[in-house]
Amino acid sequence: MKERLTIALPKGRNFAQALRLWQLIGFDTREITDDTRRLIFEDPVHQVRFLILRPTDIPTYVEYGAADMGIVGKDILAEQDRDVYEPLDLRFGFCRLVVAQPADLTGREPVSGWSTMRVATKFPHLTEKYFVSTGRQVEIIKLYGSIELAPLVGLAERIVDLVETGKTLQENGLVEVEEILKVSARLVVNRASQKTKYERITAIIDALKEVI
Ligand code: PRP
Repeated sequence: MKERLTIALPKGRNFAQALRLWQLIGFDTREITDDTRRLIFEDPVHQVRFLILRPTDIPTYVEYGAADMGIVGKDILAEQDRDVYEPLDLRFGFCRLVVAQPADLTGREPVSGWSTMRVATKFPHLTEKYFVSTGRQVEIIKLYGSIELAPLVGLAERIVDLVETGKTLQENGLVEVEEILKVSARLVVNRASQKTKYERITAIIDALKEVI
């Protein structure tokens, strides 16, 4: 009898590709859809259960062992710095974390210097680390979404946000000025599970390597 594995799936833009990976390595995911209100699904044949989570909660579930493994973007992992094992770049969910600003300000240094610069972002830790590492002190304004709006209404002068196609920046008159991080989806594994369920987890990692 295999030990049961609990796998965390991210809601949202990486959901379909994450689900597809588990399907490709043979798990039964037929009942799982993104729009369901059900949050937990079982594949009893393979002794696996899937949790449907907000991406930002996945490192927490995996660190505490409530999930043995999960799929989550490198942006979230880098922002949260949770103690999880990260064995695999899954090679989807590509995007970049960038600094952007209104197109009509490009090429100009901030009028009153960087220390009064307000930067809006969902990623306060990465933003702080980046600006400190480049010798600039800025005021960070933490937001939860629609970041591109902030410079249009005077809440911030710049933003740090994810860019995939560039459409959101473009449609809001913003341009990328600096790149902070290249992002892709990663497999994360609970450190204790990696030891106690070593054979199962290693077999899964090997199977995932075959299909990515
Ligand atoms: C993300 C990100 C950007 C946008 C980038 O937002 O924060 O706003 O996608 O994608 P693009 O370059 O292809 O336009 P999301 O859709 O997750 O919504 P949110 O702004 O509410 O977080």
